[in-house]
Amino acid sequence: MNDLQGRRIVLGVSGGIAAYKACELARLMGKAGALVDVVMTEGATRFVAPLTFQALTGRPVHVSLWQDGGDNGMAHIDLTRGADAVLIAPATADFLARLAQGRADDLLTALCLARDCPLLVAPAMNRQMWANPATQRNVAQLRSDGVVMLGPASGEQACGETGEGRMLEAVELCDALIAFFQPKRLSGRRVLLTAGPTCEPLDPVRVLTNLSSGKMGYALARACAEAGANVTLVSGPVCLPTPADVRRIDVRSALEMRDAVIAALPADIFIAVAAVADYRPAAPAAHKIKKGAATLTLELTANPDILAEVAARPDAPFCVGFAAESENLAAYAESKRRAKRLPLVVGNLVQDGLGGDANLITLFDATGAHPLPPGDKLTLARAIVRHLAELYHAHD
Ligand code: PMT
Repeated sequence: MNDLQGRRIVLGVSGGIAAYKACELARLMGKAGALVDVVMTEGATRFVAPLTFQALTGRPVHVSLWQDGGDNGMAHIDLTRGADAVLIAPATADFLARLAQGRADDLLTALCLARDCPLLVAPAMNRQMWANPATQRNVAQLRSDGVVMLGPASGEQACGETGEGRMLEAVELCDALIAFFQPKRLSGRRVLLTAGPTCEPLDPVRVLTNLSSGKMGYALARACAEAGANVTLVSGPVCLPTPADVRRIDVRSALEMRDAVIAALPADIFIAVAAVADYRPAAPAAHKIKKGAATLTLELTANPDILAEVAARPDAPFCVGFAAESENLAAYAESKRRAKRLPLVVGNLVQDGLGGDANLITLFDATGAHPLPPGDKLTLARAIVRHLAELYHAHD
């Protein structure tokens, strides 16, 4: 996806071992469509050769205040004019200290001072250096100056110790940059979602379930977080990583999902993406059901309808339902919208089953049907957020 298409990013690399991850970051940003100019400190060149970044970005790499002046000798000014953001990755403890003091004694600090675009930094250092009050003072100063901190993460460090101070992975940084540029349509709103399948126990080793992969719900959770919402995701069993800045609650059955949703209220917006089992075995067997008879009859009992219950509450959030249909999408989706009195239902035509990376979606609201262009689930999720944010703010 070309999520950074048309963006000009200055990637600043300071002198830490995590500089090797910045190579992958430069490649990912370029792949996402950004034009990337790399600026390195002298220290960074001890870890990675400028030629590596030059080969990855196809652009000259800048290191020195004195040699990179272009025609007017002012690289520190020219590099950020027209840039959409400066991203420093890795930002060492020393670099953060120099930034916090407003120093301009090399090309990278000078351009940070001279920039007229947002500055994002990805700290990377030993855990003690990160925890040191001097570093924390510098970080607090930078935050109050409007600098955006990305990470650090916690985990194993190059020095062999374990703790907070690791630079985020390249893919996480690239995603954070993409999120940074998304319009904050749901800023500060509490969004609660369900996603994935439910598993209804039949006996201690068997469940009744469905083929929902969770991809659509996770893409929507990510799109809501990108739009500035505080997101809670109640998830059935899936094999997906939790999107950044999303609080995830894992459940298995529809009953567990219902209890987790009710416990997570109040919310401003509730989006029910999960493929919840309508029925569960009435009396799960205490022991494994043995093979024997030629046929086996299961007695099922209805599960609570989570969306209907939430939508009927006196403090009901703005509720969005999903409808997956293999035929008559408009009729079924519209009847679900009316039955549960929902302002918005997202209808998807599931001709090839669930679990794919793309979807075919039509939005149904009080004004009618709004088909979206076919696309991957994240692109569609962002379009759904755009539409639901408009309805939500009009309703609010
Ligand atoms: O996970 P993926 O592989 O990416 O697939 C995504 C999806 C196809 C599962 C998703 O996009 C989708 O359409 N989910 C809803 C499936 C469906 O049609 O559910 P339903 O018709 O049973 O329910 C209608 C609505 O009520 C849904 O919002 C559902 O979450 C909700 N519901 C249903 C039953 C129930 N007991 N509780 C509920 O909250």
